This record gives sequence, structure tokens and C-alpha cells, in this order.
Amino acid sequence: MAVERTLSIIKPDAVAKNVIGQIYTRFENAGLKIVAAQMRHLNRAEAEGFYAVHKARPFFKDLVDFMISGPVMIQVLEGENAVLKHRDLMGATDPKKADKGTIRADFADSIDANAVHGSDSAENAATEIAYFFATKNIHSR
Ligand code: TYD
Repeated sequence: MAVERTLSIIKPDAVAKNVIGQIYTRFENAGLKIVAAQMRHLNRAEAEGFYAVHKARPFFKDLVDFMISGPVMIQVLEGENAVLKHRDLMGATDPKKADKGTIRADFADSIDANAVHGSDSAENAATEIAYFFATKNIHSR
């Protein structure tokens, strides 16, 4: 299995709940390494750009409003099968449908305040990582 990278964002609701460390522990226990990280309070243009693929969706404005409501913790995770492994740790988009023991089942309140973001393919991961991180700031280990 190839080593790959994925982009993770701990969203404003989970940052406010003070569970960054608990979420990081889940990544580390699953064999995912944090190879870059930054805490940011995104502005509207940054959040809209990041979620541009959802621009036409009815929830777009609420999603952007939520993503700029407080600081987020953004990281690059590296490991074997990182994209899928991270999606498994996150659980389903709607926390009511998320499997027991997943991050969203444990920390998310609703489909719009759902604690975490994770890239859904290796191709999107490359685009999303480049959106937030210069290559020189990613420290492969
Ligand atoms: P999506 O890419 O479908 O989910 P995921 O984050 O699991 O990859 O949607 C992006 C975000 O948009 C999602 O995390 C929360 C928000 N969203 C809503 O607020 N309502 C919705 O009905 C959907 C599908 C998503």
C-alpha cells in the first residue's frame, strides 16, 4: 500500500470544544503522522475558495458562515492509505449516521457543525493541501 497524504481540518465547533488533542491522538493511533499544521481563522474568501466545489449547493452559505465562525486547525496527515483511513476515522457526514466510535459520532452536533473535514480522494487531497501549505512547510517523516 502506498504512503499518501490527506488534508484534515478540525472545524470551529471541535476547536471550541477543546478536543484538538483527542482528535490528534486518534490520527496517531491509526498510524497517521501529522507532517504540517496551522491554526487559522479563515476569512470568507478563503473558506469560499476552499469549498468552491459546493458553490451551487443550498447549504453553501451556511457552510462558509460556519467555517469562518472561529479558528480551525488545519493539518496534513501522512501514512499508508491515508485518505481512506482518515475518512474512516471521521465517520459519515451526518453525525446521526456516523458509526460508533468515529470522530463525528463522538464530537459533532449536526450535519453542518460536523467537527472535521477530510479530503475524499488522493487527487482532491493534493489540491486541498496546496491550498493551505507550501511544499517547504510539509515535513515528511
Ligand atoms: P460533503 O463534501 O458532502 O461531506 P464531507 O465533509 O463528509 O466530505 O459536504 C461538505 C460539508 O458541507 C459537510 O462536511 C457539511 C456541509 N453539508 C451540509 O451542511 N449539509 C449537507 O446536506 C451536506 C451534504 C453537507
